[in-house]
Formats: sequence, structure tokens, C-alpha cells
Amino acid sequence: MNTTLYIKQKTKSLLLIAILLCLGSHSKAQQKQFTPGKIWPDDKGVHINAHGGGILYKKGKYYWFGEHKIAGDAGNRAMVGVHCYSSTDLYNWKDEGIALNVSDDPENDIAKGCILERPKVVYNKLTKKYVMWFHLELLGKGYAAARAGVATSDKVTGPYTFIKSYRPNPGQMPFYTPLTPENEKVNCAAPASETDGFFCRDLPGGQMARDMTVFVDDDGEAYHVFSSEENYTLDLAQLTPDYTGHTGKFIRIYIGHQTEAPALFKRNGIYYMIGSGCTGWAPNAARWFSAKSIWGPWIFHGNPCKGPDSNITYGGQSTHVLPVAGKKDAFIFMADKWTPKDAIDGRYLWLPITFKGDDIEINWLDSWDLGVFKR
Ligand code: DGJ
Repeated sequence: MNTTLYIKQKTKSLLLIAILLCLGSHSKAQQKQFTPGKIWPDDKGVHINAHGGGILYKKGKYYWFGEHKIAGDAGNRAMVGVHCYSSTDLYNWKDEGIALNVSDDPENDIAKGCILERPKVVYNKLTKKYVMWFHLELLGKGYAAARAGVATSDKVTGPYTFIKSYRPNPGQMPFYTPLTPENEKVNCAAPASETDGFFCRDLPGGQMARDMTVFVDDDGEAYHVFSSEENYTLDLAQLTPDYTGHTGKFIRIYIGHQTEAPALFKRNGIYYMIGSGCTGWAPNAARWFSAKSIWGPWIFHGNPCKGPDSNITYGGQSTHVLPVAGKKDAFIFMADKWTPKDAIDGRYLWLPITFKGDDIEINWLDSWDLGVFKR
């Protein structure tokens, strides 16, 4: 081959490689914004499948865990398990696969077809294990079991090993502080309300545990917060030092007012919680609370959302509040827009939380980026 021909051919192949590289990088265009309610493609171009989820930040990476839904008529049944994604910038998410698989054994607590909702993962410094909690309903039993389930892993992305599921705090009365109002103390000899009645009914076997989150405080103590007493009341319960059990110490919050979808965060020493009302899959108004101590009193402040559709949380329901690493006062409200007839198409509404003094506000944005947080 003469030199000119060789150079021509070499140039051609270099050009081809450049075009291919260009095409490749184009198909993986980096996302630079949040677009609430729109399809959110992962690194493979597939809509993220992590509903009712939560996010753990570890060593410079965010890990998003959520319910994996399937297309078709499975509805809310867990046919696969808990899906995990990772990201360094919060806009672009890499599919890390299934972190917790449901079991093919129909006798297993997490049998394929069970209901496994709102998984949340935290890291335990003492055991160096990742601990996943979730709301579990046993196969074929509808929403009657109302259990908390727990699984652990040595690796953040899993695989997680299922440990146990149960109703928390059997035989335990709530923890009362000097600030607990007398009329909030339960008397099982003569329950004063319907929800107190449910509490007393479930006292021997443990309290019902449905919609939930897990919160780790600055001192390493972890708390499981869940809808209990037929969803009438929220419980905030301390976890054991290894985070895989309950200590028996818990309080009841906003007794009798049906709060679901709790999400906790802390800013300037104040604890915040955002939750929803209880209307199945239909959206309702969000509600927020604050407390100076994790043990309360938790003060109810009404709806943090403002503007059009704020009465239905813009069509969504809270699932988690994410502190943005390295930024002060930067918290993202994460919500799910459920689509029960085609659960896999459920959308994510992420919106920034605005602070007005110690009060919070959430406003709708069609698109936004982390630049909204000043520092
Ligand atoms: C709303 C809850 O927040 C969801 O997690 C789920 O439990 C549905 N209700 C079931 O109707």
C-alpha cells in the first residue's frame, strides 16, 4: 500500500471512530435539570423504577432505593423487589440493579407477589452494615399484616439479605415526656378514642406498621416512623444500636389524624417531618410538623405546599426529604405521583424546600437545578 492511500484509509477510520464516539456520547446526554412529573431516564435510557423510595448518601455518591414496579396488571404487588440506582450529581442515575429480591418461595415473608413498600436504607457505623427497612404485607393478605421488614447487606448496592418482619413494640406503652398532654396518654382499661382502641387491641402482638421512613440523627440513633393504628396515628420508634430491631421506646404523633408517607429531616437542631393524608393512591394535601426534640412535642403546621394544586401536593405524595451534600439549607422534597393502573409509569416530583425562618415552603417548578440553593 502506498503512503497516500495508507494515510487516506487511516483518516477515514479515525473519522469513523470520532463519529461513533460522538453518537455514543449523544445517546447518553447528561441531564442537568430536574423536571418534576416527566419521564426520568436512567443511564440506559429507561424510566427510573424506584417508587416510594429514599436516598442514602455515602462516600460522594447518592444511592436511590425504591419499589420496582412492573408493567401490566400487577398493580402494587412486588414481583421483583427493591431497585437501586446511584448518582454523583442527582440528575443522572446509574442502574445498580435489584438490591433486594423477593423470594420464589410462597411461604417466605417476602414472597413474590407480596406488597413491599417505601424501602429506606441507612448505614450502621457499629456493624458496618447497610440496613434496609420497608413496609411489608404478606402474600395474598391485602393490607392486613401491616408489618415492618428488615434486610441487611455488607455492600450498599446489595444483595440485601432479608432478616425478619414483624409488628413493632409488642407489650410496650408509649414513652411520655413531661410535655406529653394528659389527654394523649392511652388508658387501655377505657380507651378514649377509636385510635386508642386500635392501639390497645394491638398491644399484645405489636403495633401495625405501614407507610414508613427511617431517620438517623447526628448522634447515630436511628428512628423508624410509621403509620400505625389502622393508619390513624404515626409512631416514632427508636431502633436498636445495630438498627435491625426496635428498643420498645416510642411516641405517638398527631393522634387520630391519619398521616401517611412520613419523611424526616433536621436543620439547625430542629426536626422536621412532611407527610400526607390518607386517601389510598389519590393525592391529598401534604402536612408538616416540627419538633425541638425527637421525642416531641411535634407541632402540626398545615400544608407546606403553595400555589396551584398545592391542595393535592401537585399530584404527588411525600416519600423522602434529601439533604444535598455539601450545601447549607439545601433539602429536596421527594414525592411520588402514583399511577396505580400502570404502576411502572409512576413519576417523581422533586422540589426544593424553601425556609422562611424556621418555617418551610414548597413551590411547584416545571424545571430547576441545584443552583436554586445558594450556598
Ligand atoms: C398510600 C400509601 O402512602 C402507599 O404507600 C400505599 O400504601 C397506598 N396508600 C395503598 O393504598
